[in-house]
Amino acid sequence: MGREEVDLLIENASEVITLEGGSRKPRLGEQMKDLGIIKGGSIVVKEGKIIAVEKMWEIKRKFEGRKIVDADGKVVMPGFVDPHSHLVFAGSREDEFEMRIQGSTYMEILERGGGILKTVRETRKASRDELIECSKKTLDTMLEHGTTTAEAKSGYGLTTMDEIKCLEAIKVLNEKHPIDIVPTFLGAHAVPLEYKDNADEYVGLVINEMIPEVANRKLAEFCDVFCEEGVFNIYQSRAILLKGKEQGLTPKLHADEMTRLGGAELAAEVGAISASHLLFASDNGLKAMGKQGVMAVLLPSASFSLMAGRYADARKMISWGVPVALGTDYNPNCWIESQQIVVALACHQLSMTSSEAITAATINAAHAINRAQTVGSLEAGKKADIIILNAPNHKFLGYRFGTNLIDKVIKNGNLVVNEGRMV
Ligand code: NIG
Ligand code: FE
Repeated sequence: MGREEVDLLIENASEVITLEGGSRKPRLGEQMKDLGIIKGGSIVVKEGKIIAVEKMWEIKRKFEGRKIVDADGKVVMPGFVDPHSHLVFAGSREDEFEMRIQGSTYMEILERGGGILKTVRETRKASRDELIECSKKTLDTMLEHGTTTAEAKSGYGLTTMDEIKCLEAIKVLNEKHPIDIVPTFLGAHAVPLEYKDNADEYVGLVINEMIPEVANRKLAEFCDVFCEEGVFNIYQSRAILLKGKEQGLTPKLHADEMTRLGGAELAAEVGAISASHLLFASDNGLKAMGKQGVMAVLLPSASFSLMAGRYADARKMISWGVPVALGTDYNPNCWIESQQIVVALACHQLSMTSSEAITAATINAAHAINRAQTVGSLEAGKKADIIILNAPNHKFLGYRFGTNLIDKVIKNGNLVVNEGRMV
């Protein structure tokens, strides 16, 4: 019998991290350590999809590749999924960074009209095309660091028109850029200055005008809220999330990041797909999330850049069976595109092992944005979103940090990054 001709064979990896078997449900607790590694593994790609992942000799017997990539001595794994990014904004905030180094807090700066509100001023001034231009650069960097699917939030417009402008930019980028982008509406990111003394009125605008418009035009899949003391309280957050849900936008939250407000409980109550940050989440809140299967999206790079010396209690969450994912929280306060650095921070600051962190940044991250049926693991039927790393084994992720370990990125079966650079 002749061998089947296929588009691409990736051969002889020192380790293929398959993460097989996690598409239906996120990996919990001890399962997070199971990377489904095949030593000396090979992957078969046809028409943008994976059709087989097996030992090299099995593959050689059955398939003939039009193109062959030798992965000898390297780790091959699913492209990273970044489930939390504020992709679209204009400008930067390095001056505030200096102020924070000298002791100003994030909240003080926001209360003075800086922080998110500074970025809002600059984003409002930018045209849709200008936003596309800067976000494209970010996506290129993400891709060069191995991210092949990313969530992207609006949230620096804070008027109906400007929020739509940001979501349209995301839509165009999704069509044009190799990275698959999953859009989230975050009109409730801050109370804009013009509503400073009337937050409820702004909440009304989000509920009555923005959400229906975003839902009608199918510009987002999720509705997010920055639920935090001094930003949106529990009542306001609940009202926004329920309205979004009613209009077909799945709820998610920025929860209990700087204070214990009950965001974790609210996430469980409204049936959110995820809650992010959770540094101050209560035990009851975490247990409720575990029971409802709400993904805890941990963002150690956000904690790092906040410089408050506190991180989420990942060990507790994992041992209680709360599903855990990792994301960058890419935003102008936390300018990081690389999920590799996030994995390193998770190992160093959250005491996650490299296996747990890899699981959290791939298949569990895919669950956090409802993409686990198509990405996040290497198995037959999934998109051929594959990264090849200059690392002899998976433990190098997290251990060797600060350099880009990416050799190649394959997106939908096409080589898009070679030797760490976009082709
Ligand atoms: O996830 N916490 C709220 N939003 C972002 C920060 C956004 C900003 O500071 O511009 C976050 O940390
Ligand atoms: Fe965020």
